[in-house]
Amino acid sequence: MCGIVAYLGKKVAQPILIEGLKRLEYRGYDSAGVALLGSDGIRIRKTSGRISALQEILDEPDSTQTLGIGHTRWATHGEPNTVNAHPHIDYTGKVTVVHNGIIENYDTLRTWLQNEGVKFASETDTEVIANLIGYFYAKDADGQDAELPKGQNKFEWSVQKALGELHGTYGLAIVCSDFADMLIGAKKGSPLILGVGDSEYILASDASAIVEHTTQAIYLSDNEMVTVSPDGFHTKTIDNVTVTKDLQQIEFSLDQIELGGYAHYMLKEICEQPKALSTCMGGRIDKRNERIKLGGVGDHLRELTRTKHLILTACGTAFHASLVGEFLFEQLARIPTETEYASEFRYRNPVIQDGTVVISISQSGETADTLAAVEQAKERGATVLGIVNVVGSSIARATDAGIYLHVGPEIGVASTKAFTAQVTVLTMLAIELARRRHISSTQAAEYIDELAQIPDKITQILQQSDHIKEIASANIDRDNWLFLGRGFNYPVALEGALKLKEISYIHAEGLPAAEMKHGPIALIVDGMPAVFIAPAGPQYDKIMGNIAEVRARGGKIIVVATEGDEHIKSAIGEADHLITVPDAPEILQPLLTVVPLQLLAYHAAVLRGHDVDKPRNLAKSVTVE
Ligand code: M6R
Repeated sequence: MCGIVAYLGKKVAQPILIEGLKRLEYRGYDSAGVALLGSDGIRIRKTSGRISALQEILDEPDSTQTLGIGHTRWATHGEPNTVNAHPHIDYTGKVTVVHNGIIENYDTLRTWLQNEGVKFASETDTEVIANLIGYFYAKDADGQDAELPKGQNKFEWSVQKALGELHGTYGLAIVCSDFADMLIGAKKGSPLILGVGDSEYILASDASAIVEHTTQAIYLSDNEMVTVSPDGFHTKTIDNVTVTKDLQQIEFSLDQIELGGYAHYMLKEICEQPKALSTCMGGRIDKRNERIKLGGVGDHLRELTRTKHLILTACGTAFHASLVGEFLFEQLARIPTETEYASEFRYRNPVIQDGTVVISISQSGETADTLAAVEQAKERGATVLGIVNVVGSSIARATDAGIYLHVGPEIGVASTKAFTAQVTVLTMLAIELARRRHISSTQAAEYIDELAQIPDKITQILQQSDHIKEIASANIDRDNWLFLGRGFNYPVALEGALKLKEISYIHAEGLPAAEMKHGPIALIVDGMPAVFIAPAGPQYDKIMGNIAEVRARGGKIIVVATEGDEHIKSAIGEADHLITVPDAPEILQPLLTVVPLQLLAYHAAVLRGHDVDKPRNLAKSVTVE
């Protein structure tokens, strides 16, 4: 949550910061601000609301301001008003900070500083960081502290002293008005990347704010800091031990993070799925030899093949993908598998037997609960693998090995292409493990063949977007929806409900269809939309029964069924709605049946006039517990 960006170079910083903040705005959009250093010293402009509100209060860009820091906030401590907006300046007026993360002991530190006579202006945990740095800096400046090691820059030393007192997480960009050409960044638990350009540096929470300027970057690890000046940069631990970091190539290009003619990122990402999944499978599906190659986990395939216990752990949409994974590993590979919410797993006392393999799934690779579950599983001796989209992210680095999704940046807060890519990766892994364990090569080859056809089938479904929009429109005044599926399509029902909730703010519940009769059927009232995911397959007859039960009670039926299913037309009424998907084996159906539900949620949100890419109260990566 929160996006930070900082610039040091020869160009005027303000427009670069604003552009960077716009790219990071999906990380949080409660308030925004910048601090710029130039011939007039430090100048801070900040406001509640979005970057567009910040732009309205900015001064004309000042050519002397070639160093600056910026922030877009997802509020945790303190309401999202202007005083609590970042940057925060210390009580001496010299040290200014932007922060992504949470300082857990901020209250103790605040009280201690207040007892030392330090005054606070905001309710935030971040102001404690600014004041703590300022406190150590002022002490040294007064000559009261002899600890400053000879030759060390006192700004850097003060930052280290302050960081040593903090408990919690931070990605920080810090400037000091006495050092008009120095920028310090530090990381613990929140992402931070330094883009290294031609005589310019951009420090940011993620690469989207950097890629316009350079594709060379260093990825800071936890407890590391970077000090940047016009002469270059050096990296250290926060305990002042020098560390050498290699420059890495940022993997995506600018056009991947532009809207490219689409009204919203979410729609772009829904429509990108055929291409994204082809890329995800590319190089992994060897059609000629009918094999799947998953290089990232190559060293662990033997262990995976032999494991007697798989645990999949994730949050939100990635959790729903994991549930599909559970069905896949059990049905195809016959491996006992459990799916756990990462937020629950981390605080339980899970039984990790010898040979248990944990797979954590995350688009961002930064979700705090998922990261903590990874640490927990590692501590208990499990092999932990990751299925992650963002290259070099915290979860990607914390796991023993993993498989990247390779679907490019996902910017819409509502996850879409990451879900289908996560399911695709889980499917590839399950097929490969099944082949190694017990199914015939011929059967594996059939699944591989079917999987390779999925992108084209999604393209066909996307063509029904207008029809799905009409369905959304016909039901747009309904405030309660149900999503019902069975077997492999039960996680899809959960995902359909989550999509609708998070962007259209319509209350929706996803359920296994057969559970209806155990209670939720009491909710059915005349015209209540009930979305059934009912493609051809072993559960078809059963779900027809569930449709009849809801229809008999006046529910409005919306069915996702297989193309050419004539029976379904007689099972639903004239006023009900039918969406079709191409035929596919049951194990692959979630990759198709979820797509109409993504479109349904998208159109409903647009029809209700919501900001689809920035739904209220949400942020793209949840880096707090
Ligand atoms: O980045 P992650 O995949 O770890 O994120 C997990 C969830 O926060 C995420 O899927 C969230 O539920 C999405 N907003 C759903 O669309």
